[in-house]
Amino acid sequence: MSAGDVQKLLAPLILRGGTALPCRLLPGPMEAVTDGAWITQLTAHKYVTSWWTPFLRISTGVPRPSRLAAHLKPFLTAGLPFIAQLMGTDGSLLAAAAKGLFAAGATAVDLNCACPMAAVTRNSAGGTCLQKPSWIRETLLRMRAAVGDRPIGVKVRMGWQETSEFTHDIAPALREATPDFVTVHFRTVCEQYQPVPDGHARMAAAREALPGMTLIGSGDLFTPQDIVAMAEQCGVDAVAPARGLLRNPRLLAETAALLRGTLLPPYSDDDRREFLSGCAADGAPHGFLLQMAANLYGKASSQFNDFLAHLTAIHQPTLQPPCHRSASPTPPSRTI
Ligand SMILES: Cc1cc2nc3c(=O)[nH]c(=O)nc-3n(C[C@H](O)[C@H](O)[C@H](O)COP(=O)(O)O)c2cc1C
Repeated sequence: MSAGDVQKLLAPLILRGGTALPCRLLPGPMEAVTDGAWITQLTAHKYVTSWWTPFLRISTGVPRPSRLAAHLKPFLTAGLPFIAQLMGTDGSLLAAAAKGLFAAGATAVDLNCACPMAAVTRNSAGGTCLQKPSWIRETLLRMRAAVGDRPIGVKVRMGWQETSEFTHDIAPALREATPDFVTVHFRTVCEQYQPVPDGHARMAAAREALPGMTLIGSGDLFTPQDIVAMAEQCGVDAVAPARGLLRNPRLLAETAALLRGTLLPPYSDDDRREFLSGCAADGAPHGFLLQMAANLYGKASSQFNDFLAHLTAIHQPTLQPPCHRSASPTPPSRTI
């Protein structure tokens, strides 16, 4: 997308084989978040027009169709088109699993070569794959051979350790593999979620290294203005914010409104309360609700403390103390 052409974020993202996503404002996949109440609430509020599943790890074999169907069930139930994400190290298993995901109803399939979590990288999956660009190329070509005219993509960071890996090794492999879309998170794997001063310059370099390819931008997209700035400055074709949605689940809808010139009223405490109530009604675990309230209000806020008191009052016997929460959408260590 050229500078000033940000309106295209509202246009459908046309994919191979006659498929498309309704617009180019996509919810970034979030393992341990994109599930259950999160999916039902964002869908019901029309805060998203498509979904992107967290990674499904393919390790020892191709999951049976019933297992793939169970994995995709919340997304199929939501009724929106969705990208299904895979992760693994065995190219032939990944190719067969991609085929299975399409058979189970996925709109597109995405290969995760970006996850920096130690539990993933010590098994040579996720971000570790960036150290073997030829493996990425071969795996995408195998996936292509397995799925034919269906859209496939890959998620990468700018490198394992250095961003120079992207231009020298990773981008050439991607150009040869020609996936239908490439998502770039502008950090390296070793940078985890550290602040980087030149995220947009990195994304612009990725744009230059992948001419003509559909590029989806990721990294520090917390406000509609951040999204517009990345689109304008880096020429990405689409964006996929993640943590910004935890602070404001309406982020994509607000961005769409900004682009249409019809500003939405501010996301109010009533909106937050209503969203949390909806998540609770949809069976979200207490830990998720607490973490979500902390994201929405800020932990130091009186609203968060009120919510905590309310939740404690109604669920006294079962509520775990916050320091022992089990399900947490945004623990700092849970970073991808
Ligand atoms: C809790 C959490 C879970 C994530 N899970 C995934 C995942 O399953 N697959 C993936 O490709 N990225 C995952 N990510 C990474 C995000 O999609 C995104 O690329 C990254 O957070 C940078 O974007 P942001 O700064 O807008 O959050 C996750 C991020 C978070 C915070």
